[in-house]
Amino acid sequence: VGRVDRPLLTTGTVLVQVAAATVNNTDVLLRSGAQRRFLTGLPPYIPGMDLAGTVLESADHRWAPGDRVMGAVSAWRAEGGAQSAVVRMAAASIVDTPPALSDVEAATLPMNGLTALAALQGLAVPVGGTIAVLGAAGAVGGLAVQAAVASGLHVIADAAPRDEVLVRGLGAETVVPRGSETWASILEAMPQGVDGLVDAVQLGSHAIRPIRDGGRIATLRPTPGLLLERDVTEVKVFVPDHLDDSVSLTRLSQLAQTGRISARVAEVFAAERVADAHRLLEAGGLRGRPVLDMTGLS
Ligand SMILES: NC(=O)c1ccc[n+]([C@@H]2O[C@H](COP(=O)([O-])OP(=O)(O)OC[C@H]3O[C@@H](n4cnc5c(N)ncnc54)[C@H](OP(=O)(O)O)[C@@H]3O)[C@@H](O)[C@H]2O)c1
Repeated sequence: VGRVDRPLLTTGTVLVQVAAATVNNTDVLLRSGAQRRFLTGLPPYIPGMDLAGTVLESADHRWAPGDRVMGAVSAWRAEGGAQSAVVRMAAASIVDTPPALSDVEAATLPMNGLTALAALQGLAVPVGGTIAVLGAAGAVGGLAVQAAVASGLHVIADAAPRDEVLVRGLGAETVVPRGSETWASILEAMPQGVDGLVDAVQLGSHAIRPIRDGGRIATLRPTPGLLLERDVTEVKVFVPDHLDDSVSLTRLSQLAQTGRISARVAEVFAAERVADAHRLLEAGGLRGRPVLDMTGLS
């Protein structure tokens, strides 16, 4: 833990006293150096794309000191990301924290929730249509299942045997075994093909197979070997493009308040134990997120 200058308030921004910040796969990529080409300026680099806390100062009419908020921020900007005691946020990148949620719970939702909603918007499947979600037990996949169900879509999702109950509980009507043959199981359940598919596991070219002619696939990372055919189109989701989507943030907040999406916390770490949080996430198999308790920093 290091000391940096407190960020300066500028028009259209707020300073948030961070209570909780989630550790995501993107932080592991940043810390490992895998994405060093996107970093500008000199260290320190401050990871974190998700936070929840309280507005300290505001230079925007929408927010006042004391408001409980959650939000998403890029860790690649010069001043760094969410894992800091005080973070400057664009006013459009925060939303009221659902009263039903603690700060720790709320911090798990903004970044992965915006990713899930952007994927669903990109698929643009009308009410009553069917989507498949690969990686449904994970953070983005799970939120995509729940948000799709809340939007009136039918969902087919994959799961390992140990996750089947979890994924059904999220609202998937049909659960198929995860793995390289998932596409065949989806087609067996739905021979006409699904209208859209969210691929949170980079299944590659097989992911196209269960999609109907003219349907869409939402990809979350570059997917080598993805060959588009039969007028299937790819929607490339990149959450930094959606961080100031206040309409989607408001929807996330409402979905969480009404229990239609769930905040899943694996373990809470004091901020000083961030390395342990990275180790836990990197070990894989988590069914919730490590969250940093930032309240001990001053
Ligand atoms: N484009 C963007 O802006 C954006 C935003 C957020 C996330 N992402 C990316 O999206 C992906 C998902 O993120 P996440 O946070 O949801 O990850 P996550 O929580 O780790 O979820 C991934 C899920 O997929 C499962 N899985 C792993 N390999 C699989 C396979 N071969 N077949 C089926 N399931 C498999 C995992 O199971 P196990 O845990 O058992 O391995 C886990 O349940 C990551 O690559 C992340 O970097 C991109």
